[in-house]
Amino acid sequence: MGKKAREIVGLDLKDLIKDLNRAYCDEWLAFYAYWYMAETVEGKGYEDMQEFLEKIAKDELEHAQELAERIIELGGLPTNDISDLAKNANYPYPGVMKKLSDYNEIIKIVTSAEAGAIEVYNKIAQKTFGKDHDTYQLALHILGEEITHEEMFENLKDGERK
Ligand SMILES: [Fe+2]
Ligand SMILES: [Fe+2]
Repeated sequence: MGKKAREIVGLDLKDLIKDLNRAYCDEWLAFYAYWYMAETVEGKGYEDMQEFLEKIAKDELEHAQELAERIIELGGLPTNDISDLAKNANYPYPGVMKKLSDYNEIIKIVTSAEAGAIEVYNKIAQKTFGKDHDTYQLALHILGEEITHEEMFENLKDGERK
C-alpha cells in the first residue's frame, strides 16, 4: 500500500494494526482448537461433527491469512512468534473438549468462540466504516462467516431454540 493510500485511512494506523493483529491471533487459536477437535472427536455419528469442525477450521485459517495480508498492506507485521499468539489475542485459547465424544462441550466451545469473534469484527467494522474502506470490507466479510459458524453450531443443540 502506497503513501497516499495510507494517508486516506482516517484512523490511527498503529491502533488499527493492533486491533487486526489481535484478531489474527484469535483466528490461529480458533483454527488450532477446531482442527484439533476435528481430528480427535469420537462417538456415534462423529463424521458429521468432524466435517463441521474441519470446515470452520479452514475458514479461520483463511481469516488469519486475510488479516495478515491487510496488516502488511497497512505497514505492520502480524505476530511472528507462535508462543505469543495467546498473549496477543483478544480472548484466551478456546480449548478443546475433555471427553472426545462430548458434543455438547464441543458446541459450547465453538459457540462461545464464535460469539467472541462476532463482537470483534462488529467492532472493527464500526471503527473502520467510512474511514478505511478495505478493512471495513474485510471485517464485513469475516463477520458474515463468523455469524454462519455460530448458527451452524447453535443448530446442533438438541431441541434448544431461542
Ligand atoms: Fe474467523
Ligand atoms: Fe468462526
